[in-house]
Amino acid sequence: MKQEPIKRIVPVNRIILGITGGIAAYKAAEFARLLIKQGVEVQVVMTEAACHFITPATMQALTGRPVLVNQWDATPNGMAHIATSRAADAIVIAPASADFIAKLTHGLADDLLSTLCLARNCPLIVAPAMNREMWLNAATQRNVKQLVADGVQVLGPDSGVQACGEEGMGRMLEAAELARDVGRVLTRHSDSVGLKPDLRGQKIIITAGPTYEAIDAVRGITNRSSGKMGYAIAQAALELGAEVTLISGPTAQPKPQGAQCVDVQSAEQMFDAVKQHLSGCAIFIGVAAVADYRVAQPSVQKIKKSAAPLTLELVPNPDILAYVANLPNPPFCVGFAAESENLAEYAEAKRRAKKLPLLVGNLAQQAIGSDDNELILFDDSGRQTLPRADKLTLARQLMQRIAQRNQGVLK
Ligand code: CTP
Repeated sequence: MKQEPIKRIVPVNRIILGITGGIAAYKAAEFARLLIKQGVEVQVVMTEAACHFITPATMQALTGRPVLVNQWDATPNGMAHIATSRAADAIVIAPASADFIAKLTHGLADDLLSTLCLARNCPLIVAPAMNREMWLNAATQRNVKQLVADGVQVLGPDSGVQACGEEGMGRMLEAAELARDVGRVLTRHSDSVGLKPDLRGQKIIITAGPTYEAIDAVRGITNRSSGKMGYAIAQAALELGAEVTLISGPTAQPKPQGAQCVDVQSAEQMFDAVKQHLSGCAIFIGVAAVADYRVAQPSVQKIKKSAAPLTLELVPNPDILAYVANLPNPPFCVGFAAESENLAEYAEAKRRAKKLPLLVGNLAQQAIGSDDNELILFDDSGRQTLPRADKLTLARQLMQRIAQRNQGVLK
């Protein structure tokens, strides 16, 4: 079953969405939803005034994260303003009230949102929303001019009928327009500071999860692979701007937003799907725990029990990774090896046998089903350990290595 990818227009991973007091706060809910759909992590920070217009509970439910309001709330190090702003790639204030714009202009820091704007080291984007007279007031115009001069991006406002019944400039941009414009601003920013996602536009195929080889109508042979590592790698590749096709056996993992997901059951189906999507593929990463054998003649009907012993004949499955790596003009191929003993020896032997530039080894008993892992990377120059960490952290480190290799930074 195919799932069409959602086009990612916002090129960053973590955004602080600041909501200040104004009727347009309801648009922030839709804006947050659009960002999340694209795989952006959204941390909402609201002012006290904003809570009169939309509840933190709504924003928490939409983003799946507790909303921050009070700067005096307990945080692990008591430094919510620093920690929160450091973890963000950008801060977007939508809606930005006249009062909040004035605060930003003068560097006031008397609540959590204004404090973390002052403490930021990332781009700040504001989407003003207010009554037209407030917008046209000389003080507001002066403040906005100063913000622009300070390097803050101001998006909107738009003109039209306002919540107060008056008509004119001051309406906040609609959520979809805001998402599009925020995407443009951040793309320009990342280009100007040289933070280009390394894999932008590169097509990557990732196989993940176990395969399921039918014995009969209801039984089959599978393994305990959870798919966590393959899905984390897909997420990390998306974060670097790659076009990801994730071909997965049965797992309970949520689909990474922005990836083209192809669900399969058996090794043969996985092989077919890989061949079907290979055209234009720059990088192939085989993370799936593909069953080495399948039942020669699976029964269409459920096999009935009898007193006689039952023998299943198993025949080898195609080796998908070896097929791709041995094509005349192969993509950059990365394999995984889960070993229960002699990791280095077996992993390096597998790498050579399949002619892989890079093989990732891990200990099966530590890796399968668990949330964290330790990886050892084997390539022509030797080996490198990525110390124990959660699978997404490891996936990000691995994808950075692969992106550097792909760009010829590492030889
Ligand atoms: N692989 C594949 N197709 C297969 C088998 C494995 O694409 N039919 C890929 C896996 O996705 C992984 C690597 O090959 O990247 C694992 O290599 P393999 O030698 O098959 O590992 P094991 O099956 O674990 O081998 P063994 O059972 O001999 O240890």
